[in-house]
Amino acid sequence: MTSEAVSVPVSVPTNRKKLFIRTWGCQMNVYDSNRMADVLAPLGYGPAATPEEADMVILNTCHIREKASEKVFSDLGRLRLLKNEKAAAGQKMVLAVAGCVAQAEGAEITARAPWVDIVLGPQTYHRLPEMVARASRAAGAQIDTDFPAEQKFDLLPQVSTDGGPIAFLTIQEGCDKFCSFCVVPYTRGAEFSRPVAAILAEAKRLVSGGAREIALLGQNVNAWHGEAPDGSAWTLSRLLYELAEIDGLARIRYTTSHPRDMDDALIGAHGRIPQLMPFLHLPVQSGSDKMLSAMNRQHKADLFFRIADRLREVRPDMALSSDFIVGHPGEKDEDHAATMALVGRVGFALAYSFKYSQRPGTPAAGQPFQVPEDVKDARLQELQAVLRRQQDDFNRACVGRECDILWTGPGRHPGQVAGRTPWLQPVHAMGPASLAGSLARVRIDAAHPNSLSATLLDEKELACA
Ligand code: SAH
Ligand code: SF4
Ligand code: F3S
Repeated sequence: MTSEAVSVPVSVPTNRKKLFIRTWGCQMNVYDSNRMADVLAPLGYGPAATPEEADMVILNTCHIREKASEKVFSDLGRLRLLKNEKAAAGQKMVLAVAGCVAQAEGAEITARAPWVDIVLGPQTYHRLPEMVARASRAAGAQIDTDFPAEQKFDLLPQVSTDGGPIAFLTIQEGCDKFCSFCVVPYTRGAEFSRPVAAILAEAKRLVSGGAREIALLGQNVNAWHGEAPDGSAWTLSRLLYELAEIDGLARIRYTTSHPRDMDDALIGAHGRIPQLMPFLHLPVQSGSDKMLSAMNRQHKADLFFRIADRLREVRPDMALSSDFIVGHPGEKDEDHAATMALVGRVGFALAYSFKYSQRPGTPAAGQPFQVPEDVKDARLQELQAVLRRQQDDFNRACVGRECDILWTGPGRHPGQVAGRTPWLQPVHAMGPASLAGSLARVRIDAAHPNSLSATLLDEKELACA
């Protein structure tokens, strides 16, 4: 889970006008940015490499932590200057704020940044063309932060299929779990699962457009449930078996899961579906039962241990990743020690850890016993040092292993090709960039701080492997 801004490439048949989208937050926001590009393509918007060359800029925002939201306002300050420069040169630039900050702070955005033309929440992207048309006619901001009855998924155009060998597919949105610290139930609304037929159609379309790996997305992806074409009720494991039947789909992942929804059938699927990659992001947040209860996570640390053990039983090469929060209100030294103990016992290939950030409107924000900043800092440092060591150990343990790589494009240096291991590590090897979109076997040679290097195995070696 990242809050770094990424720009999403947009590809459309005509590019009379140019669109620049900056995306923060989770992968669902990346998916949404692509969908906004899809919905604006018929209006003639093509990709812009920078805001400077754009006729429209969309900031697709994240509200999860204070820092993430504040970045939006500093960007808006810079864009105001750009908009003024363009206006002085007789050019118009439409500025839109989308995503979770838009949903949570719609009115505040227009008050703090009246030069914004459009504010729209994550549920109304299908209305974007109409809002753009209105914004070009009328003065003042257009705001749409409804949770409309109609489903945006039914109204958005078909997903574009030029995103390369790794594709994202949102199957579930929203959250009913109301963890004490989290804004998602308020910004994304109630849990909603897309129907089976729509998901299968989108997956097949992505694969026929070149995707070899699909990551199913949802704020609580493993709570997904849907009605199959024959009327029966499916849970995620059943959907995974069905997706595994799609010819040409070599890899399947799903993210982000909640421990409470890791049912037996889903754990079992990891042992039976070879396309399901041996890497699972399963946020635990804390190892202390007292804190898990204060956080309203609705499970104890023991459930997490049992899930980790059973996943490794059915799939011995299974690697786990997780999210942690230090310094939730009421967290004592012994609670932090329990988190450290959980990390030591489970062992993570990757993890994201954050200092608790007070979010307006969430239950934890108003609780007494907020943890002082220096204590949070110290706990985070201690946790991150261990998590970093575990990640390095995991990467080093891969050296000497043979595995299949899904190649995604050229590497950073001439003659290199880059891709991903089954455990999502970035990897590079000497080889032609034309491998992009295919899988080939390598031997891992070395582990670097943020990637692995490898040697492609030739066909003779492959035959004996
Ligand atoms: N649905 C996922 C996580 C969604 S948010 C789950 O159930 O775990 C992504 C991560 O951001 C969370 O796992 C949590 O670690 C972190 N996060 C959410 N709210 C936060 C807050 N108020 N302060 C610090 N970190 C937070
Ligand atoms: Fe947020 Fe909890 Fe829902 Fe995850 S399960 S999105 S942390 S409220
Ligand atoms: Fe951020 Fe919204 Fe995703 S708050 S993490 S962009 S669901």
